[in-house]
Amino acid sequence: MRGKYVTETLQPDKGGIARAAQILSAGGLVAVPTETVYGLAARADSDKAVARIYQAKGRPTFNPLIVHVGTLQHARSFGEFVPEAERLAELYWPGPLTLVLQSLSETRLASAVTAGLDTVAIRIPAHQVMRALLSNVDFPLAAPSANRSGFISPTTAAHVLTSLDGRIDAVIDAGACAAGLESTIVAVRDNGRTDVLRPGPIELGAATTNSTIEAPGQLASHYSPGKPIRLEATAIAKDEFCIGFGSSLGDCNLSSAGDMKEAASRLYGCLHDAARSDKPRIAVVPIPEEGIGMAINDRLRRAATPPG
Ligand code: TXA
Ligand code: MG
Repeated sequence: MRGKYVTETLQPDKGGIARAAQILSAGGLVAVPTETVYGLAARADSDKAVARIYQAKGRPTFNPLIVHVGTLQHARSFGEFVPEAERLAELYWPGPLTLVLQSLSETRLASAVTAGLDTVAIRIPAHQVMRALLSNVDFPLAAPSANRSGFISPTTAAHVLTSLDGRIDAVIDAGACAAGLESTIVAVRDNGRTDVLRPGPIELGAATTNSTIEAPGQLASHYSPGKPIRLEATAIAKDEFCIGFGSSLGDCNLSSAGDMKEAASRLYGCLHDAARSDKPRIAVVPIPEEGIGMAINDRLRRAATPPG
């Protein structure tokens, strides 16, 4: 379904980044490349701009957004950096880690960004184009994944346009995202305790896993290609689009070499292909539950859960 905007495709160069900064300054929406997935950015200090994110995505307003900044100094102005948060930031930023911290009361973020919680999610992304954009603007960027709420996350500009063409002002096309899975989200409590709210590209072995309470957006049904998905499939029916791994080739293979990182980077691409195919159902061969395989299987289980 097309919306009322003409969505510009921008180049990932100086001119494109300057145009994106101009649109964002005026309160517009720009889909931006990051090392994880494409994000749908708006200035995080504007109620109007942030409201447009929720509208374009059809996102429930109880689901808060991640605040993207370019520097640790800027990040510190939004959340309480207890020593464990400082340690994780030093170790993994810029990169695919989001920290959920106690928010500082005097920050000027639009209230919809945190959806009424007293915590805030913050990330310094590593992608060069996103970094250049952040240094071109003097406000933080709120950015969820650039897809309609509940659907497959985008790892290319074409994926973004599949669900948001005509609903946003622009997309910066910088090719495919390297990691291909959303950032690892870790909540750091006042006492230094950490809870992994969403598994992702960064593995935090010692941290515990907290299933629901504080990641309101981690709904059971998510990343949906709009057709039934069967997991751990060992025999494939004729009417099934098969997502393969290793020597189980399939119609789209996550990694014929059995490389888990490559599999993560190709997951959403294969789900988009499966969604587009004529086949009415999807089957996915077993994916090892090791390392980033845990994040892959987390996304697949949600994709396989029917909505409602
Ligand atoms: O890699 C990523 O994280 C991408 C790129 C664009 O940065 N962004 C992304 O955003 O995946 P989104 O909105 O699709 O997922 C953000 C998740 C949601 O599940 C949301 O509920 C959770 O972060 N979240 C945001 N603020 C939170 C908070 N204060 N406490 C707990 N969870 C929070
Ligand atoms: Mg998302």
